[in-house]
Amino acid sequence: NLKFAIMLLCAYLLGAIPSGLWLGKRVYHKDIRTLGSGNIGTTNTFRVLGKKAGLTVLFMDMFKGTFAAALPYLFGSFSHPFYNPLLIGLAAVIGHSFSIFDHFRGGKAVATSAGIVLAYNPLFFLICWLVFGSLVYFTRMVSVASMLGMVIIVGLSFFFHDLLLSGVAIILMCFIIYMHRDNFKRIRTGTENKVPFGFGYHK
Ligand code: G3P
Repeated sequence: NLKFAIMLLCAYLLGAIPSGLWLGKRVYHKDIRTLGSGNIGTTNTFRVLGKKAGLTVLFMDMFKGTFAAALPYLFGSFSHPFYNPLLIGLAAVIGHSFSIFDHFRGGKAVATSAGIVLAYNPLFFLICWLVFGSLVYFTRMVSVASMLGMVIIVGLSFFFHDLLLSGVAIILMCFIIYMHRDNFKRIRTGTENKVPFGFGYHK
């Protein structure tokens, strides 16, 4: 169906916007792929470019997911079971991690995944943030918080009795853990980047 294909394409293209990479290059004249962890996501932007840039990328990466997931509402059609914010949102997550604007590379999908949940279930989105924020606070490692957080979030999703939500959460958990494979190596060797106390990332 043409409408569905157009929605998927729009969602993919939205997700593919490499905000960290473009902000770094155009505003800060730095290529964050060659600095810090080399990731183009929120965490590395904070680490390399500072708080203002980090927050900008967080909002951009998150809201591109929200916007993509809201496309079925904008297209105004729910005649098909696949016209679902979570499913369309998944195309944005794929775009974020395999961006056509960066040789099909990209970020680790955490912020964009959160964004699609916001469009689907704002309460669950808040719960996700609470889990993730607490884990960052206690572990000081955003990667650990992302991976462990996803496991907890999958568990919590079952309380919502929403098969689609739990199914997509499981898919995102597997995907996010897979995207953190380099972090795994650093965690094992004790060299993973830590968030300094008080969330005060240094430049
Ligand atoms: O969202 C990415 C985060 O979990 C890890 O980022 O830059 O420490 O690899 P980074």
